[in-house]
Amino acid sequence: MKIEQGGTRVIFIFSNIVVKIPKLKVIRPFIRFFHHLINRQVEEKLMAFDQTSVVKAILRYFLSGIIANRFEHYYSKKHKNFDEIIHVYGLCFGMILIQKRVSVVEEEDERWKNFLRCLIKKGIKDIDLLVARNFGWDNGKMKVLDYGRIETIREVYKLKFL
Ligand SMILES: Nc1ncnc2c1ncn2[C@@H]1O[C@H](COP(=O)(O)OP(=O)(O)OP(=O)(O)O)[C@@H](O)[C@H]1O
Ligand SMILES: [Mg+2]
Repeated sequence: MKIEQGGTRVIFIFSNIVVKIPKLKVIRPFIRFFHHLINRQVEEKLMAFDQTSVVKAILRYFLSGIIANRFEHYYSKKHKNFDEIIHVYGLCFGMILIQKRVSVVEEEDERWKNFLRCLIKKGIKDIDLLVARNFGWDNGKMKVLDYGRIETIREVYKLKFL
C-alpha cells in the first residue's frame, strides 16, 4: 500500500482500488491565515472558495475534501457511460471515496504532451484538467481521476470532443 498526499485528500493506494479520505484541516489553516494576513491577501484567498459570502468560503475551505469526494461520487454515478473519467466504486459514510486504481500519467510522457496541446486548443482552462497527475491510464486511454471541483466538472465534458 502507498500513501499519496493530495491538496484536499489523502489517497491510500492499494493494488486494485484507491481510498480517498478528506484531509483534516487543523493547524495549517491558522499558519496560512496569519501568512495571508501579513500579505493582506485574506479576502482574495477566501474569494477563491466562494465569491458571494465569507461564511460559505470558510465552510468550503474546511470541507473541501468532503465536497470533492461527494462531487466525484455524484458525477460518476450520474454519468455512468461517460468514458473520460475514472469511475467511482462507492462512497462510505458520505465522505470516504473508493475508486478504481489506475496508472498515473507522467508529465514527461509524449502522449500527455500531445493531449495537453489538444486540451489547450479546445479552450480548457480549469487548472486540474491541465496537469498530468490528475489523469490515469485506463484500458489504454487517458482519463480524469480528479474531478472533485465544480470548475472541473463544468469543463470535463469537453474531453469527449477532443
Ligand atoms: N484512481 C487513482 N489511481 C491511482 N492513483 C491515484 C488515483 N486517484 C488519485 N491518485 C493519486 O493521488 C494523487 C492525489 O489525488 P487527487 O488528485 O484525486 O486528490 P486531490 O486532493 O484532489 O489532490 P490535488 O488537490 O493535489 O489535485 C493523484 O495525483 C495521484 O497521484
Ligand atoms: Mg489532483
